[in-house]
Amino acid sequence: MTHDPRDEAADEGAQDASPADDTNPLRHRRIRSFVTRAGRVSTGQRRALDEFGPRFVIPYAADTLDWDAVFGRRAPRVLEIGFGMGATTAEIAATRAGDDFLGVEVHEPGVGALLKLIGEEGLTNIRIVQHDAVEVLEHMIAPESLDGVHIYFPDPWHKARHHKRRLIQPKFVAHLVSRLKPGGYIHLATDWQNYAEQMLEVLAAETALENTADGYAPRPDYRPVTKFERRGIKLGHGVWDLVFKRR
Ligand SMILES: C[S@@+](CC[C@H](N)C(=O)[O-])C[C@H]1O[C@@H](n2cnc3c(N)ncnc32)[C@H](O)[C@@H]1O
Repeated sequence: MTHDPRDEAADEGAQDASPADDTNPLRHRRIRSFVTRAGRVSTGQRRALDEFGPRFVIPYAADTLDWDAVFGRRAPRVLEIGFGMGATTAEIAATRAGDDFLGVEVHEPGVGALLKLIGEEGLTNIRIVQHDAVEVLEHMIAPESLDGVHIYFPDPWHKARHHKRRLIQPKFVAHLVSRLKPGGYIHLATDWQNYAEQMLEVLAAETALENTADGYAPRPDYRPVTKFERRGIKLGHGVWDLVFKRR
């Protein structure tokens, strides 16, 4: 696999953990699924952040989000974690105009890129939180409130010593499930076989979930094939989708 600068950043322990606060027993150093990257925001992304940020970006707060108030309607609610540059998010939101999407991403250029798409395409059913999704899930999302969760191509953390940083772990999945309505779904996709196997193992072991397929799922029509994915498929690489439902 190609060189991934995150490997070095992680080895150096780059700004990846909350500072330990010995005076507060509830705060402790937590391993994060990302390292803070100083990404360059393009002029177009900056413009979109300024113009559309105030309407579509919701500041992180340790308060339950009122989706009906935020979107101005009552519609099915889908949380997307780590939307990257947001191309898939925008495409899904455009085709599923009857659903509302909350996208969570830590990387500012990605937030700018998705805001640019929202502006260009006049999308009204997306809101963004720029913060660690683990904390957003814990504090902003009410129990049994989500109809779906999308996590596409989460950082695979190739090296074995970094697997602890992978998002899809039993504890996190249990937390996700607690936020899903009964019948709500989790849709994951990855192009890294070892992570796909871990995803299948973790989701299958969660007793509150049931697989909608026999093992990996066929790619649902609403998830577009990305540019990178198409290139990988041409090179003979695999992509694995998983779709599980809460019982
Ligand atoms: C490999 S990229 C995939 C992006 C996109 N989903 C796609 O399919 O192209 C993973 C993204 O997840 C984001 N990410 C990782 N951990 C996160 C977390 N705990 N909270 C929010 N975003 C996170 C990263 O910043 C990165 O943009």
